[in-house]
Amino acid sequence: MPEPRAPDHLVIQKVMKKYGSGEPALKSVSLNVRKGEFLALLGPSGCGKTTLLKIIAGLEKATQGQMALAGEGLDAIPTYRRDIGIVFQSYALFPHMTVDANIRFGLDMRGIKGDEADRRVAEALDLVKLDGLSARMPNALSGGQQQRVALARALVIRPKLLLLDEPLSNLDAVLRKSVRVDIRELHERIGLTTVMVTHDQEEAMSMADRVAVMANGYVLQHDTPEVIYEHPASAFVATFVGNPPAILLPVEKTARGYGIGGTAFAPSRSLAAAIDRQNGKPVLLGLRSDRLSFADESGPLTITGEVHSSEYIGGSWLVHVALGEHRIAVPTRARPPAFGKAAHIRIDEAEPLLFDPVTGAKVALP
Ligand SMILES: Nc1ncnc2c1ncn2[C@@H]1O[C@H](COP(=O)(O)OP(=O)(O)O)[C@@H](O)[C@H]1O
Ligand SMILES: [Mg+2]
Repeated sequence: MPEPRAPDHLVIQKVMKKYGSGEPALKSVSLNVRKGEFLALLGPSGCGKTTLLKIIAGLEKATQGQMALAGEGLDAIPTYRRDIGIVFQSYALFPHMTVDANIRFGLDMRGIKGDEADRRVAEALDLVKLDGLSARMPNALSGGQQQRVALARALVIRPKLLLLDEPLSNLDAVLRKSVRVDIRELHERIGLTTVMVTHDQEEAMSMADRVAVMANGYVLQHDTPEVIYEHPASAFVATFVGNPPAILLPVEKTARGYGIGGTAFAPSRSLAAAIDRQNGKPVLLGLRSDRLSFADESGPLTITGEVHSSEYIGGSWLVHVALGEHRIAVPTRARPPAFGKAAHIRIDEAEPLLFDPVTGAKVALP
């Protein structure tokens, strides 16, 4: 973790990128990354993550906007002098060169040779735990080892900034989890300011100090994983983040109060006030399974539905409850209620998630 008040190391201001005549790939992105911080750029495919990384690295030019690294404007600095290490999704190792030569390449380019180069290569191999494999060719390494060569190659130049583009996506599921921990550990050890691109919310939330959630060329929310999970700023963030993510259900005003899918919903007082303030406009309630539980009776923040089915998931059950045509999954450690029975579900959120169905914006509670 960087110091909370560590100075900004990378500052991105109103960056816009248009590749041809179509819609811009980046609309207007402003972000700051503190010294020593690990930032994840998280968003679905095509939202502009790689484009932003390439602009930082100098591999693409922004159509508009400015960036500064360690207080120096990046515009005037050519790509090769930016001291930025990059690991691409594909690793992009030179297949005809040994591990040692792959790692040494960036030093050669910078005129670093002899003993100093040897020392740096050994240090980089040690950092990624590849000692002893320096004479191998890339095709004689596992995917995880190739990935670490790519990391060593980025680290050997002692960069001011490390950029990782989906670094784990070519690894199998088991390896991905362990390399996730390795990269985070390496970050703790050397404290290098890092920006990692991923479309995997679990990866972003578990590895990063802060996460920038992107969609459609914009940054929707930039905060710690905890704040993004507890207080998602929009319907998109709520449905993209979390395991499982939130599902959104429309709340109706009924003759007797409030309802979801034709079943009774008892809001808290502040939630009722927020719904009432919409003046009859529909509103979406975000429900996350891990924040739902069964209650003995109806009360504030409960929904009454009908048990539809249940599945045993080892030590506990996931009970699927019907709210009219909607289904929600409620975890329970007790034996689940029988099929067809009415069930009261309590929403255990410090701040219930309420969104405008048209704009997706958060509806504030009074
Ligand atoms: N070189 C390029 N020329 C034209 N369009 C591009 C180019 N690179 C990316 N794009 C477009 O820009 C948008 C963002 O792409 P990208 O940054 O690769 O997204 P992500 O990494 O989030 O999947 C996409 O619509 C993509 O098709
Ligand atoms: Mg990409």
